[in-house]
Amino acid sequence: MNILLGVTGSIAAYKAAEITSRLTKLGHNVDVLLTESGSRFITPLTLQTLSKNKVYMDMFEEITPSEVKHISLAKKADLVLIAPATANIIGKIAHGIADDFLSTVVMAAAGLAPVYIAPAMNTNMYENPIVQENIQSLTDRGYRFIEPKASLLACGDLGKGALADVDEIVDVVTKALK
Ligand SMILES: Cc1cc2nc3c(=O)[nH]c(=O)nc-3n(C[C@H](O)[C@H](O)[C@H](O)COP(=O)(O)O)c2cc1C
Repeated sequence: MNILLGVTGSIAAYKAAEITSRLTKLGHNVDVLLTESGSRFITPLTLQTLSKNKVYMDMFEEITPSEVKHISLAKKADLVLIAPATANIIGKIAHGIADDFLSTVVMAAAGLAPVYIAPAMNTNMYENPIVQENIQSLTDRGYRFIEPKASLLACGDLGKGALADVDEIVDVVTKALK
């Protein structure tokens, strides 16, 4: 199956390497879309090596003249997974903003593929009513969330906001693809 994995600028982005590796070893084709902020936490080279595919970052690169990449990637996807998902990408999707490769592909994938979002952020950010409203609004529109867990966070706070376990994320994706 074709999985489109969005990786955003969370400290949990390093876990995207494990997610990519596990899904690839399960026999799926994983195309990774890495945001500019995401690339501050994990390199495209790591994700390219594990997925054995080019990692997409620049929407205007258009390496294949015969196609418009953000549309062809959206059409190709059997499932879109954003893990980790920042407060920012959740807000952008909820409000129809398409100002980078990932948010544009997610916009184009509407009605074509299920979108699973695994948030990761500081507890205060996660509990911010604006973030919660965005999650609710997306849930109402059929987007699926893989809930973060409570843990000691990288910032030192103890609370909800840590990325769900990789095992759980892989399990949810595997079941969704069956
Ligand atoms: C060290 C560090 C860790 C961060 N971790 C998170 C995080 O876990 N979740 C989050 O929503 N934002 C986090 N941010 C802030 C995002 O990187 C920032 O909002 C960025 O604009 C997100 O861009 P993106 O959604 O396009 O990847 C972090 C920033 C820094 C400097």
